[in-house]
Amino acid sequence: MFLEINELVKKYQSGETEFLALNHVSFEMKEGEIGVILGPSGSGKSTLMNIVGGLENATSGSVKIDGHEIASLKSKALGIYRRNFVGFIFQFYNLIPNLTIRENIEICSHLGKDPLNIDHLIEKVGLQGQEKKFPSQLSGGQQQRVAIARALVKNPKLLLCDEPTGALDYKTSKEVLELFEEINQNYRTTIMMITHNDAIQNMAHRVIKIKDGQITSNKINEKRLAAHDIEW
Ligand SMILES: Nc1ncnc2c1ncn2[C@@H]1O[C@H](COP(=O)(O)OP(=O)(O)OP(=O)(O)O)[C@@H](O)[C@H]1O
Ligand SMILES: [Mg+2]
Repeated sequence: MFLEINELVKKYQSGETEFLALNHVSFEMKEGEIGVILGPSGSGKSTLMNIVGGLENATSGSVKIDGHEIASLKSKALGIYRRNFVGFIFQFYNLIPNLTIRENIEICSHLGKDPLNIDHLIEKVGLQGQEKKFPSQLSGGQQQRVAIARALVKNPKLLLCDEPTGALDYKTSKEVLELFEEINQNYRTTIMMITHNDAIQNMAHRVIKIKDGQITSNKINEKRLAAHDIEW
């Protein structure tokens, strides 16, 4: 199994009271799957993703990626894991404003062992001709495509997306989802995507629901739709 999460707990302490943002979460994902994570605000989605991505430490439990335990890694080893393995995409693109589009992508290309060709990737995400512009000169959807290219250029095995279409309109969201689908097919990248948009689950191989820090459902989607055919 590519991703194995076992009895994962994240506890926050405020004064006397303890709060379990993740309450014994266990699930698995196969390599090359698109997993969509649905759940109400505050249910623990981002906490889960941040731990899987090595951005936060767990209180207890296990997260294994490709057989390697990452939940107990110290910060240096965690940094190496993030660099070699994980691409992140967030709701608000987090581009560097005073670097050009090409430079924003380029700074991440040295991170992986087997980086993708930058020009090819720029073309793939539909940004050819925009390379010399700065982020503020692009639309939201274009900026998100730069963020996707930046996450992908190091050719990560795991792509973690926290509400990647949250700030985008319908048409642009669909374009971004189609891009994820293509990446998943072309590079077999395993994708974990958090969303508030129920319709997006239709393109997933696996749909995981979380509530109050607990997994309430984990199902294989037998009737996958192409991103292009999803409506909401
Ligand atoms: N640093 C922190 N200290 C204390 N509590 C925290 C901290 N970070 C998150 N929490 C709490 O943990 C819970 C889960 O937060 P999380 O950000 O994972 O939710 P989420 O499902 O991503 O929500 P949203 O859909 O609004 O992004 C929330 O109740 C939140 O208040
Ligand atoms: Mg969140």
